[in-house]
Amino acid sequence: MLILLKSPLMSQIVIISASIRTDRKSDRVALFFRNYISDKGLASVEILDLNEYNFPLFNERLRFQKDPPDSALLFAEKLKKSDGVLIVTPEYNGGYPASLKNVIDLLTDEWNRKPVAISTVSGGQFGGSQVLTSLLFTLWKIKAWVVPAMFPVPDVEDTFDENGIPSNIPQTEKRADAFTKELLWCIAAKQKMSGI
Ligand SMILES: Cc1cc2nc3c(=O)[nH]c(=O)nc-3n(C[C@H](O)[C@H](O)[C@H](O)COP(=O)(O)O)c2cc1C
Repeated sequence: MLILLKSPLMSQIVIISASIRTDRKSDRVALFFRNYISDKGLASVEILDLNEYNFPLFNERLRFQKDPPDSALLFAEKLKKSDGVLIVTPEYNGGYPASLKNVIDLLTDEWNRKPVAISTVSGGQFGGSQVLTSLLFTLWKIKAWVVPAMFPVPDVEDTFDENGIPSNIPQTEKRADAFTKELLWCIAAKQKMSGI
């Protein structure tokens, strides 16, 4: 029996840019990853910008909504079809923003066994790493597969410009290489197990 393994080149990664704050800065990191993944030909990639989706505050899971908005259906479809998710989240008071919890709770099966990499971003010196405590637990509860790699970004305003270009390109790309490789490895492993 011929089993075709999907090449990592064909994988689809969606980047969730979680901040919807006026004058947000973490979106710069989402832009960086989109450009990096695309330029290196690592996968096809798209940003799901929660600011653009502008979801209302969660009031029920999508599958139980009687008349769900098209934007929510589209978001769910894109997440479901993706091979992996890269979340770029800011740190707010030691946690992740409500906008991100909103879309985690909105969906259910779409998260199941989904390889997820997390990049945390802050204006402070610790790179938003305190977010991990709560976000890892929530993603575990919803049965996502969080990959064991970190990409903390401290002092984001000084380290990435508005176009997502890092101030220290070699150092940032070295870190991005290790981080994205881990996500791609998990995607490939899942595809192998699923016989894709
Ligand atoms: C409500 C709020 C709480 C914040 N809490 C923290 C924090 O606990 N630690 C930290 O380093 N930065 C904190 N920041 C700064 C953000 O990390 C900073 O704004 C960064 O740019 C990422 O968020 P952004 O994408 O919304 O800009 C906070 C910002 C806001 C708006």
